[in-house]
Amino acid sequence: MMEIKVDVPSGQYSILLEQGLMQRAGELIKNITGIDTAVIITDDIVDKLYSTTVECSLELADIKFIKYIFPHGESSKNSNVYISILNFLAENHITRSDAVIALGGGVVGDMAGFVSATYLRGIHLVQIPTTLLAAVDSSVGGKTAIDLDSGKNLAGAFYQPDLVICDYTALNSLPDHVFSDGCAEIIKYGMICDYDLFDSLNIPIKQHIESVISRCVEIKRDIVAKDEKDKSLRQLLNFGHTIGHGIEKCSNYNIPHGTAVAIGMAMITKSAVSLGFCDSLCYDKLCSMLKNYTLPIETEYSGQQLIEGILSDKKRSGEYITLVLPKSIGKCFLHKTPINEISKYLDSAY
Ligand code: GLY
Repeated sequence: MMEIKVDVPSGQYSILLEQGLMQRAGELIKNITGIDTAVIITDDIVDKLYSTTVECSLELADIKFIKYIFPHGESSKNSNVYISILNFLAENHITRSDAVIALGGGVVGDMAGFVSATYLRGIHLVQIPTTLLAAVDSSVGGKTAIDLDSGKNLAGAFYQPDLVICDYTALNSLPDHVFSDGCAEIIKYGMICDYDLFDSLNIPIKQHIESVISRCVEIKRDIVAKDEKDKSLRQLLNFGHTIGHGIEKCSNYNIPHGTAVAIGMAMITKSAVSLGFCDSLCYDKLCSMLKNYTLPIETEYSGQQLIEGILSDKKRSGEYITLVLPKSIGKCFLHKTPINEISKYLDSAY
């Protein structure tokens, strides 16, 4: 079993990675948290695939459990579902010495994380990511949130888990489009700070999934350790996300996160080329990598349509928004940009 230790100002925890680890979830959770009762939070699809495995492991470890299942998809990440889960915990007398287990992808992790951060002002949280995107990004680093009508992830908290259990078995059986969605975030890590990782993705990710995931998690761990609360360095992880969030919002969240980020990365890189921040080879290499993983590089939405989503993005700070721009493959930088100049970047992104 591989263990990656995270050390952030608000605490320390481990990310455990191994094939078949879900079968040992109960024992691992017991060792770290000492809990007797857990609440599994999951969605309807993941429930059918993995709940039994996790439940058996909890029984073996003498952990009682209850379970809350909500419909899959970003549209469930709302305040109604959030309040309903909080009430479910309260009605079942869940206390601070119990734990929430987030079993699923990014939506489940964000929702269950925010529930854990706010119920009784914080209870134990264990993340068990079942998508590639959740394994390399959302289950690590403590960002938790729900969406509001005005935009994505607008109500949330930084709240680190007690433990992350990453079982590669779940990732190998993902539908192709869900796997590709996670590949976008992997390509992002290569683009922002690791040329060798980017280059290694010329070998299909499935052929070296363990080393790719662990490298991404290490990169994220190192960035989050230096900037847990997203004040500076961590914003690099938002490469492709400003335009990406605009695309997600325009599509009413029908375009999944990684796919929108892929388009966002391609568009902002095209803009960076045309504004002289990087050369066209960088754009060509990025686009060909995205296409290798069947990810799109263009959107049907106009700059005018995207702008509303972009301006309601939480990365905005007063009259500025920090864009992440590429210099070359493996090197991105933060560029504080006045709101009234955003259209310049969007216009040159098409
Ligand atoms: N997904 C970006 C971050 O965790 O900061």
